Amino acid sequence: MKIESDRLIIENFSKNDVASWAEIERNRRVRRYIDGKTLSYDQAKAYVYRNIDEFNKKGFSRYAVRYKRNGRLIGMCGFLEEAYGIDFGYRYTPAFWGKGIGFEAAKKVLELGMTRSKPITVYGIVAVNNFGSIRILERLDFRYIGQTIMHGLKALKYSFVIKNIARES
Ligand SMILES: CC(C)(COP(=O)(O)OP(=O)(O)OC[C@H]1O[C@@H](n2cnc3c(N)ncnc32)[C@H](O)[C@@H]1OP(=O)(O)O)[C@@H](O)C(=O)NCCC(=O)NCCS
Repeated sequence: MKIESDRLIIENFSKNDVASWAEIERNRRVRRYIDGKTLSYDQAKAYVYRNIDEFNKKGFSRYAVRYKRNGRLIGMCGFLEEAYGIDFGYRYTPAFWGKGIGFEAAKKVLELGMTRSKPITVYGIVAVNNFGSIRILERLDFRYIGQTIMHGLKALKYSFVIKNIARES
């Protein structure tokens, strides 16, 4: 899977991404509105390997988001099967926040990140005070479903129906 937007290349994680992913996930700000944790190198490695594996099994996963200009891994965007259904999520290293990248990647991944023969519903769950993430979901026309709890935090649940059908690569 490989897609491009103006500034980004979005593709499957590779085993070579482990060190860069660990660097992103060791920053306390990154998961502040997710679970408040940081990841160790081994946890970051497991995350990358898991996503490679998930894509091979299911045809979707969280994807590596790279900055086109220099190829740097700056975050992830994509899908993950959870107990409540298929989650749509994203996170980036703070140096790249506030530049429209979260929205740019999310839009492309929703359009092209999953090959389906039938429409499928995905869910976005976001902490009530994660205003940037809420704004992304709303701009993408996610539908607000109601409140929920995520890792002990009050959160909002949204859904979106992916209607796209085909992806070539
Ligand atoms: C949340 C996150 C993905 C947003 O990505 P981003 O690239 O900074 O967002 P964008 O620049 O595309 O901004 C999208 C919109 O949100 C707004 N926005 C971004 N950050 C904001 C903030 N902290 N507060 C209020 N609005 C914000 C932007 O102004 C923009 O609004 P507009 O479309 O009306 O212009 C990014 O901050 C991040 O990775 N955070 C850490 C991980 C995380 O929380 N992930 C989401 C878990 S649900």
